[in-house]
Amino acid sequence: MSKSLAAAIGCASITVAAVASAEPPAGAAACSGCHPASTHVTSPVPRLAGRDGAAIVKAMQDFRSGTRAGTVMDRIAKGFTDEEMQAIAAWYATQK
Ligand code: HEC
Repeated sequence: MSKSLAAAIGCASITVAAVASAEPPAGAAACSGCHPASTHVTSPVPRLAGRDGAAIVKAMQDFRSGTRAGTVMDRIAKGFTDEEMQAIAAWYATQK
């Protein structure tokens, strides 16, 4: 999977839609309804596509532990393990 993802990133001529659909990890579909998987989409929800993966994981962990308050993310974050958050964050970080 990482091989094809790297290939997709390396190919500058690939379309945005193709990159955005490049094998999202389990659970990512639960995020992309609110957080678009493309930086080209305008959304009132904070952008995750193209963001630093470590920052996404940190925010998720803070929501889960209650360190950071959210309207919905505190509840959503409780449904994910660290491994799932890392996989989803790494995927979002590669989305353009
Ligand atoms: C129902 C819509 C919804 C879903 C689904 C959702 N989010 Fe969020 N997310 C939000 C909103 C709204 C915020 C702003 C904080 C709040 O109000 O809870 C947010 C904030 C965040 C932030 C902080 C961003 C920042 O810039 O501060 C992260 C990271 C995040 N979400 C990750 C995720 C991940 C990963 C998933 C999937 C597991 C996910 N979200 C699913 C609506 C959603």
